[in-house]
Amino acid sequence: MKTLADLLAEGVAGRRVLVRADLNVPLDGSVITDDGRVRASLPTIKQLSEAGARVVVMAHLGRPKGKPDPKFSLGVVAVRLGDLLGREVLGITEITGQAAQAAVDGLADGDVALLENVRFDPRETSKDEAERTGFAQELAALAGPDGAFVSDGFGVVHRKQASVYDLAKLLPHYAGGLVLAEVEVLRKLTADTARPYVVVLGGSKVSDKLGVIENLLAKVDRLLIGGGMAYTFLKAQGHEVGKSLLQEDQLDTVRGFLAEADKRGVELVLPVDVRTAEQFPDFGAESQPDPVVVPAGGIPAERMGLDIGPDTERLFADKLADAKTVFWNGPMGVFEVAEFAGGTRAVAQALVDSSAFTVVGGGDSAAAVRQLGLPEDGFSHISTGGGASLEFLEGKELPGVTVLED
Ligand code: 3PG
Repeated sequence: MKTLADLLAEGVAGRRVLVRADLNVPLDGSVITDDGRVRASLPTIKQLSEAGARVVVMAHLGRPKGKPDPKFSLGVVAVRLGDLLGREVLGITEITGQAAQAAVDGLADGDVALLENVRFDPRETSKDEAERTGFAQELAALAGPDGAFVSDGFGVVHRKQASVYDLAKLLPHYAGGLVLAEVEVLRKLTADTARPYVVVLGGSKVSDKLGVIENLLAKVDRLLIGGGMAYTFLKAQGHEVGKSLLQEDQLDTVRGFLAEADKRGVELVLPVDVRTAEQFPDFGAESQPDPVVVPAGGIPAERMGLDIGPDTERLFADKLADAKTVFWNGPMGVFEVAEFAGGTRAVAQALVDSSAFTVVGGGDSAAAVRQLGLPEDGFSHISTGGGASLEFLEGKELPGVTVLED
């Protein structure tokens, strides 16, 4: 696999380099609430720009329905990228075609531009290879005859999409620094992993994590389950979960996981107490009703679990204390409101206090770490990829990485 270092050694001055980044940041209206992915994209863009490349960044934002939608415009991201880079980033309002080509033709050595959301074109995410290839050809045309493609959007390498996968087949391609770093870290979680290896999973839906749980049961020593998905596990054990999030259709699968863990001697640890309320919190409200802590084995019919409780915080911290390797994905509760952020904070703090190799999976858990004000350098690695890191741990092939190997 050729890397950014190889491209820099070849020389990039005056060449157009298309960089696929993952700039899919959470927004509140037009305000970026967590710019972790923008920051993580800086080193590759900076190195190319400083070496005199004409850098054209491609990215997606959200899941627009294959047509322009101002809600998902990357304009605000271009501004933030420029602020963080310390140089202007030209926000190109097209993706391909004459106007985009003219804007790219106008770039000088070292300039950086960001194309509009590639998912505004339905061919980006099309299942039809010919359609995706057509779009990728238009993107490749922007780079011209001596152009190159750098794949650096780790968060999206699990998607077989035009700007991630098909474009690599059309241009000389190189793995960017972020993709290389992420893959190296995740490999440590799949081979020769230092033990005890403890995984903490949370988040709302167990159905999003079926593959990863199945795979992890063969690899980990302990699996701690919190967040919304814990209630399906508690119900599968025969407990009452009141109005808590429950995926009835997954109960049999979850019973299978419990049996498999038992058979393999994997310690599967569930909450022993939970913080509850009668309603799901209104994020806009000034304050929330005080949470009531109840035993996880009997949540009253009129209440719902919204965070792990204080005894569970201590239990999870204890189960993490002797770990040598930890992977954590998914918040323990509704961390967006202070009353239900305690569990997520406690798990994050246990990782900070640990001397293990600690990896935080992307998405909500990475955002939670930053929003709760925990020191980023307290973790060995905070991944930018939510789905991508889970698919890697599931043992699935990442098309956006495999294609770089050819
Ligand atoms: C993510 O947020 O995990 C990545 O940016 C991929 O986004 P997607 O799930 O919409 O493909």
